[in-house]
Amino acid sequence: MFETALTDAQSRIGNFLTDQMARLGDDTIAQGMRYATGAGKRLRGFLVLESAALFGVPKERALYAAGAVECLHAYSLVHDDLPCMDDDALRRGQPTVHVKWDEATAVLVGDALQTFAFELLSCEEAGTAEERVTLMATLARASGAEGMVLGQAQDIAAETAGQALTLDEITALQANKTGRLIEWPAYAGALLGGADPAPLRTYARAIGLAFQIADDVLDVEGDAATAGKALRKDADAGKATFVSLLGLDAAKARAGELVREADAALAPYGEKAQVLRDLAHYIVSRDK
Ligand code: IPE
Ligand code: IPE
Ligand code: MG
Ligand code: MG
Ligand code: MG
Repeated sequence: MFETALTDAQSRIGNFLTDQMARLGDDTIAQGMRYATGAGKRLRGFLVLESAALFGVPKERALYAAGAVECLHAYSLVHDDLPCMDDDALRRGQPTVHVKWDEATAVLVGDALQTFAFELLSCEEAGTAEERVTLMATLARASGAEGMVLGQAQDIAAETAGQALTLDEITALQANKTGRLIEWPAYAGALLGGADPAPLRTYARAIGLAFQIADDVLDVEGDAATAGKALRKDADAGKATFVSLLGLDAAKARAGELVREADAALAPYGEKAQVLRDLAHYIVSRDK
């Protein structure tokens, strides 16, 4: 059931983005935008759809927030892979945007994906006027100088300084870098459903951290062909991760604890939240 729900969400979000991007034409930037959003697990979009579904929000409406967060996420990856950041040539098993085109194109594709995310949230179909403003404001905050961008900067600073971070510092860094863009979809689902976002926020904070721990574990133990991206990069770069600080076993144990916390946070929704429970397990057991 989980697999079917995820596959279904992946194709719905893919089709939605194809439709929404149709009018952008076929210039290089539009091609790059389609390329950068054409694959991936679409976990953040899935999380919007599943959270919204708990409260009976129609999929056609929730798809705007789902598409928006996937565009924002894709932009963060296009820029993350640039030579001045992680310098990666492969993403999702395909050449990265700056390798397929060039660096200037990759910068601009990222910029355009970011603005497109907010354009999607501004569409009338995305919610009431008040919901749309709130969605835009909260996504901006989750993404920018107090969210994902801050986390990316902290990540690079730690790497440059070559200084070991404490567990608290790594937790804070990862909450910004990865956590905020996983928390937002759960929040967005509750907002669209007119529901209290607190339980879903607690759930999403736990899976967000578990997600980044799993990413760090994958970097050490994963198979690059399956993951579709270069691995064994964090240790080489002297990157501060849960694995570098705690070691593999304790990092995995921490991820397991976080999954149990996530499970517990879903108690108010009972059986209806089974797919979200399965998602928490999937996040720590994934191989890509
Ligand atoms: C990878 O995110 C980048 C991180 C935030 C660790 P995902 O693993 O969700 O990437 P895709 O979208 O499925 O490729
Ligand atoms: C990227 O983290 C997080 C973003 C905000 C894009 P990583 O640099 O660890 O992601 P991967 O391993 O390249 O996917
Ligand atoms: Mg990075
Ligand atoms: Mg990277
Ligand atoms: Mg990584």
